[in-house]
Amino acid sequence: MAATPPPEHLRDEVESVLIGEAEIAARVRELAADIERDFAGKDLLVVALLTGTVPFLADLIRHIALPMRLDFMGVSSYGSSTAPGELVFTKELRLEARDRDVLLVDDILDTGKTLRAVIDKLNALQPRSLKTCVLLEKKSRRTEAIPADYIGFEVPDEFVIGYGLDYAERYRNLPFIGVLKESAVSGEQ
Ligand code: IMP
Ligand code: MG
Repeated sequence: MAATPPPEHLRDEVESVLIGEAEIAARVRELAADIERDFAGKDLLVVALLTGTVPFLADLIRHIALPMRLDFMGVSSYGSSTAPGELVFTKELRLEARDRDVLLVDDILDTGKTLRAVIDKLNALQPRSLKTCVLLEKKSRRTEAIPADYIGFEVPDEFVIGYGLDYAERYRNLPFIGVLKESAVSGEQ
């Protein structure tokens, strides 16, 4: 598949468009349909991790026609912008998770350290069930045995941005998922 060039104004920062807007939209609808089928008859608690899930979450939940509550957890990894570091919880769950059917949503499953920590924390709250949905997964860097129940796309081991994913907190607003240019990776900001 030939790489699609990014829009003109992003050519200095974005190497290529990996997954375009239409492809994302179609896949998100499929994920929503799978979730709707599997959770039929249940009252969902959707727990999304800040901040990278925001565009994905907004699109996903609008296509799930089931009763649900929505809450957020904040997790940050203090490391460099492209390499993971130590995990710190920056926002705790506000809604009751005990005896709930929980769907945990994250942007990307990379090493698995983030989801490992969040899943352990959620399981301690004794939900009735816990399933995990990620927009993207990178298989090559996995260190934790985390199987996600719903996966949007598998991506190669490259640093991706857009549709919620950031580099140094930027690019979350891009409507597509792209590969960041090596030359756009600067020192810490
Ligand atoms: P993990 O804990 O290694 O699985 O990493 C998960 C987190 O790392 C994600 O929630 C992202 O915030 C970040 N991350 C990993 N890979 C990328 C990437 O390619 N682009 C942007 N963020 C990434
Ligand atoms: Mg991030």
